[in-house]
Amino acid sequence: MQIKVIDHPLIKHKMAFLRDERRSMPEFRKLLHEIGLLMAFDVTRDLKLAETVIQTPVAVTKAEKLEKHPVLVNILRAGIGMLNPFMEILPKSRVGFLGMNRDEETLEAHSYYNKIPMQALDNKVLLLDPMLATGGSALSALDFLKSKGVTNVTFVCLVAAPEGVKAINAAYPDVTIYTAALDEKLNEKGYIVPGLGDAGDRIFGTGEDENL
Ligand code: PRP
Ligand code: URA
Repeated sequence: MQIKVIDHPLIKHKMAFLRDERRSMPEFRKLLHEIGLLMAFDVTRDLKLAETVIQTPVAVTKAEKLEKHPVLVNILRAGIGMLNPFMEILPKSRVGFLGMNRDEETLEAHSYYNKIPMQALDNKVLLLDPMLATGGSALSALDFLKSKGVTNVTFVCLVAAPEGVKAINAAYPDVTIYTAALDEKLNEKGYIVPGLGDAGDRIFGTGEDENL
């Protein structure tokens, strides 16, 4: 099973605050951003380095820089919450977008937009979406990327349900999943339990909650 649950006290601590239903929208955004930055540290651990020579104020020395920047692919809309911290830490990364909307009744994912940089073909791709529930949206995104010839994909989420992990592993065993938490199950409405509710609504204020 290709799943890596990032086990770090700071991430666990911040996840406890993020999941709490009392978080306001600005607090939720800030925590998501901070957790994304912390996750980026682990998710990028295997990036290759290339030797270079630099001049410090004191001496010429060898140093190492990233050989290539991964391409970030964002599953709209909630993926934007993870895209921002990854763009901050990898400012030279190109960014692609895949618009996916889950039908609340059937739980099927519908694709409504795609724009991917061609460099995704020969670079590592980090596919970002905070929630992996049934896996329908992630699988639809992976089907699209693979159909375009993208080969090296890592899926990065915040909360994963076992059902979604199983679905990705079955269809794309080569795709590693990084998550900040592996939760218990899905409920009858397809929400992750305990989860954090609707990520898009909590980031963008589109839920029924009157107080932001
Ligand atoms: C959410 C989430 C994932 C998807 C996960 O998006 O951001 O994309 O649900 O569920 P799944 O694994 O069962 O497909 P949603 O469709 O609610 O759209 P949004 O990001 O625009 O809110
Ligand atoms: N999408 C979300 O935003 N939350 C869930 O729990 C499941 C799908």
